[in-house]
Amino acid sequence: MNIPQLTDFSEASLDAAFAEVRALAETAITAASFDKEQFRLEWLGRKQGYLGQISDTWLKAAPVEAKKLIGQRFNALKQTIEEKLAAETLLDSGIEISGLDITLPGTAQRLGVEHPLVKTMAEIVSVFQRMGYSVGLGPEVETDFYNFEALNFPPNHPARDTQDTLVVDAQDGKPLRDRLLMRTHTSPVQIRSMLEQAPPLRLVIPGKVHRNDAADATHSPVFHQVEGLCVDTNITFSDLKGTLDHAMKAFFGSAVKTRFFPSFFPFTEPSADVQISCIFCGGKGCRKCKHSGWIELLGCGMVDPAVFASVNQRRIELGREPVYDTARISGFAFGMGVDRIAMMKYGISDIGLLYSGDMRFLEQFA
Ligand code: PHE
Repeated sequence: MNIPQLTDFSEASLDAAFAEVRALAETAITAASFDKEQFRLEWLGRKQGYLGQISDTWLKAAPVEAKKLIGQRFNALKQTIEEKLAAETLLDSGIEISGLDITLPGTAQRLGVEHPLVKTMAEIVSVFQRMGYSVGLGPEVETDFYNFEALNFPPNHPARDTQDTLVVDAQDGKPLRDRLLMRTHTSPVQIRSMLEQAPPLRLVIPGKVHRNDAADATHSPVFHQVEGLCVDTNITFSDLKGTLDHAMKAFFGSAVKTRFFPSFFPFTEPSADVQISCIFCGGKGCRKCKHSGWIELLGCGMVDPAVFASVNQRRIELGREPVYDTARISGFAFGMGVDRIAMMKYGISDIGLLYSGDMRFLEQFA
C-alpha cells in the first residue's frame, strides 16, 4: 500500500482518507486468505506497518492546526483494527461472537455429580453430624499397629485371618507393628483420634477400606465403611442402642426398627451385630431379606478397656497424658458397610457397577 500525502485538511476529506484505509483493513481481515500474523506485521508492525506509515506521513507531517483532527481519526482507526483482530482471535479459539448459527447442535457442558457411594457416605455422616459428631479421617495405607495391634488383635490371633489383609510388599525387615498394609477397616482411625484428642470424643469416620476378597456380586476388594466412636463419662450400652436406633430411623425412615445380637470384635466388649427391619417389605419377609424380615447392617460394641490401655500406653510413648482412664470414661464404637447400604438404597444388585466407572450406570444418579 502506498500512503499518499494529504493536501486537503478539511474534516470531510480527512474522513474520506481514513475511511479508505479502514475499508482496506476490513477487506484484508475478512479475506479468505486472511493470515493473522501476516496482517499484524503488515498493519501493526513497528517499523514498516501501515499504521506506522500513516502516523509518519499524515500525523507527524501535518500542520499544527490539523494535528488534533488527524490524531482523533488515527486513534479511532487503530482501535477499530485492533478490535477486529481480537474478534478474529476469539473466533479462532472457537468462541463464536458473531454469525451465531442457532441451527447447529449446542456444546452442552456436562455437570459432575457425586458418585452414589460418596453421596450415601455423606448422608450417613450428616445423620451423625446432626447428633454433634465431628468427622475424622485416616490413611488407607496403615501400619499393623493401628489396624490390628492397638485394636487388641494380638500377633497370630485368628481374628486377623477374618480380615483378609492385603499387605504392602517388602515389609519383612521391619518390626511387625511398623509393617504397612492396606487398612481392612476404618477402626484404626479410632486409635489415631484418641492419640490426638482427649475425651470427650464423638467422631464419625468415613473411608475406603481394602480386603483380599474375590470380586463377585456382593464382594469387592475395595469398599467403604463409616465408623463411629463416642467416648465420655457415663457412656453405656443404652447410649449405643439409642444412638444407632435413632441413626437408622433418620437414614432409612422412622418406621425402621433395630435389633441387637451378641457378636465378637477384639476391640469391643460386649460386641453386637445390628439388624434393621427389612426396608423392602417392612419386616413381613421377602426375597431381599431372605424371608427373615431383617437385614444385617453393622457391627458395634462398647470400647474394650484393652483398647484404651494401648491408647494410653502409646500416648505415654509420645509424651502425652494417658487420659483414657477407664475408671472415669467409657465409650462405644460402630462400623457399617457403605456399599451394601448404597446398593439397598438404589436397588443395585452388583457391587462391581459401583467401581466400573461406566458412565451409562453412573449417569442414572445425576
Ligand atoms: N471394624 C469392624 C469391621 O470392619 C466393624 C466394627 C467397628 C465393629 C466398630 C465394632 C466397632 O468388621
